[in-house]
Order: sequence, then structure tokens, then C-alpha cells
Amino acid sequence: MKTISILNENDLKEAYELELLCHPIPWSKETFFSNQGERYLNLKITVNNKIVGFCICQQVIDEATLFNIAIHPKYRKQGLAKALLNHLIDELMAMSNTISTLWLEVRESNRPAIDLYHSIGFNQITIRKNYYPTASGDQEDAIIMAYTLAL
Ligand SMILES: CC(C)(COP(=O)(O)OP(=O)(O)OC[C@H]1O[C@@H](n2cnc3c(N)ncnc32)[C@H](O)[C@@H]1OP(=O)(O)O)[C@@H](O)C(=O)NCCC(=O)NCCS
Repeated sequence: MKTISILNENDLKEAYELELLCHPIPWSKETFFSNQGERYLNLKITVNNKIVGFCICQQVIDEATLFNIAIHPKYRKQGLAKALLNHLIDELMAMSNTISTLWLEVRESNRPAIDLYHSIGFNQITIRKNYYPTASGDQEDAIIMAYTLAL
């Protein structure tokens, strides 16, 4: 059975395993564990009580930023990331009437993620040149995208 709920402190060890599995350049454990707390709306998606995905979202004044989203490789292409993001958007709209925009940045080479964000309704706003380091030691551009939350 699939459920979406708050990613809490007790989930972080399991979720960090997923972080290491999902990203070619994962966050450090310190970064992952510090992106939690009252300013964050972090969610997990579980299948049969196992965490198969998470998202990390920070809220500051009238804006929210999606810092991270990952789905276990074996559970991809089943609509789980889309369900998680739509749930996040619903929660952001339900809990606050002040947050107007959900921002994110994504590597220009990350076609699955870019297609996911477009499928949800994010628009490309700008490009940040040479923003990300790559595994091969080069740099690549970041695409900045935004989703307007209905107020
Ligand atoms: C990006 C990611 C989160 C997508 O997760 P997912 O659960 O497979 O995505 P969904 O099944 O919900 O896909 C929703 C839509 O995204 C797009 N999409 C997802 N995977 C895709 C792929 N491999 N190629 C092209 N489009 C893709 C499609 O538009 C898809 O809709 P469709 O199935 O109707 O065509 C997943 O691939 C992942 O964890 N990648 C590694 C971590 C990462 O790059 N995170 C994002 C940057 S922080």
C-alpha cells in the first residue's frame, strides 16, 4: 500500500540511504540531516511501509523551494514523484495563504526531472550558467523553474 506523510526525524537514516542510491552527487549526511526543522515541509512516500521516495522543501516568507526529490530506482516511472509533488503542492496551499511560488533548480542534463516538473506545471524562468559541478569534474547549467500556487 502506498502512503504519503511527513518525513520525520526517525526516517532520516533510511531516507539518506535513498539519497546515496539516487543521486550521482549526493548531499553529505550533514547537509541531508540539517535540511529539516520548522521551516521545512519534507515528505516521504512509502510502499508497504518502506520509504521509496522523499522530497525536501523549505519555506521562507512567501516562497517555497524544492531542494531535493528522489524515488528509489526500482519504483520509478510509476507516477510516485508526481504524486509526491502534487501532495506537496496541496499541503503548501492548505497550510499557508501567503506562499505564492514554489521554486526549484535542476541540472540541464536531468531530463526525467525536467519532464516531471513540466508535467506538473512548472515553468522555466531562467538558466544559471555553470552552476553545478559534474561527476567528471566539469560544470553544467542549472535550469530555474517555478510553479505558481493558486492563492
Ligand atoms: C526524477 C525522479 C524523481 C522521477 O521520479 P518518478 O517517480 O520516476 O517520476 P513519475 O513516474 O512520477 O513521472 C512523472 C512524469 O515525469 C516524467 N518522467 C519521469 N521519469 C522520466 C524519464 N526517465 N524520462 C522522461 N520523462 C520522465 C514524465 O513526464 C512522467 O510522466 P509520464 O509517466 O506520464 O510520462 C526520479 O527519476 C529520480 O529519483 N531521479 C534521481 C533523483 C533526481 O534526479 N531528482 C531530481 C533532482 S533533485
